[in-house]
Amino acid sequence: MTVYQNILAQHYDLAPSPGLSDEMQDIYARMDRVVTPPDFAIHAPYIKAINALKKERNAVILGHNYMTPEIYHGVSDFVGDSLQLAMKASEVEADVIVQAGVHFMAETSKILSPEKTVLMPDMAAGCSLAESITAEGIEEMRAKYPGAPVVSYVNTTAEVKAASDICCTSSNAVQIVNAIEADTVIMTPDQYLAQNVANEVDKNVVFWPGSCIVHEQYTPQDLRDFRSWNPGTRLIAHPECPPDVVAEADFSGSTSGILKYVTDEKPEKAMLITECSMATNIADQLPEVEFVGPCNMCPYMKKITLEKILYVLHTMDGQVEVDAEVAEKARHSVQAMIDLSKKLGL
Ligand code: 13P
Ligand code: SF4
Repeated sequence: MTVYQNILAQHYDLAPSPGLSDEMQDIYARMDRVVTPPDFAIHAPYIKAINALKKERNAVILGHNYMTPEIYHGVSDFVGDSLQLAMKASEVEADVIVQAGVHFMAETSKILSPEKTVLMPDMAAGCSLAESITAEGIEEMRAKYPGAPVVSYVNTTAEVKAASDICCTSSNAVQIVNAIEADTVIMTPDQYLAQNVANEVDKNVVFWPGSCIVHEQYTPQDLRDFRSWNPGTRLIAHPECPPDVVAEADFSGSTSGILKYVTDEKPEKAMLITECSMATNIADQLPEVEFVGPCNMCPYMKKITLEKILYVLHTMDGQVEVDAEVAEKARHSVQAMIDLSKKLGL
């Protein structure tokens, strides 16, 4: 038994329950293509307890597209990419937000909704990009490129956001950089997102050498091999992949961009060059598409489990705090991104 189970078992009946699965057929139907009945019987008591506790606490769960299907379909009130979740955090009416995602997402929610309690099911759910740069790194870049505005990916700490001029996500990076009135733009911390943006804008984009440990693993040869072994498969890459990987793909977009592309195009077979849960989460709503191929797991995203979500909702542990002065400056960068995205209809 884990430490969480020990405590939770005193308050909830969490034994696997096929009977409960029968009662929760409507929820199971959202994931029955990717979750087996015995696995759902294990998840069902947690899903039931979390959904009841959410009502008691007036809480909402914001679930990123990389959450496992039982979190994504079973307990999340809103799901989406980083931009959609940030926008939701700024407008949602609730006392408590549980961030089913990684730490920088919870910080962003707290920055946008300082009056709400934001709970992080596992404080160790970080991000290789957010860990690659500090506020000093931003100052280094400013000293190297005087006068150039700094666009920081939301995958950064509150301190880095506070030291930046505006934020971006992978779904608005090109538009944000384009909208900035400057010939040279500093993009941090994802070198690959920056290079992919540079290929689409008429500006000098300089960047910090950070990378995502999930997307940097793909190589163009992987995609060429996969295409030759599986002719006709549509290859769809996230823009955190290196530019030579994106160049081999049929389409590149944020996680919501990927969902839209597959929904609109309905290819017979698709390989998503991104985190593993992306394909499993959308498989049920797209039964006509066969999702194939290897995928890479994000060890940070996978730290979030139903058990930890129930634990923080029960104990109200895991509250995310951001220093008020840092939060105020960071809010400016995040809000500038949201306002511009709304203005551009994104
Ligand atoms: P998006 O969902 O914004 O595409 O971001 C992907 C990601 O890696 C989040 O950590
Ligand atoms: Fe960070 Fe990459 Fe994991 Fe997203 S997938 S949280 S960018 S390490």
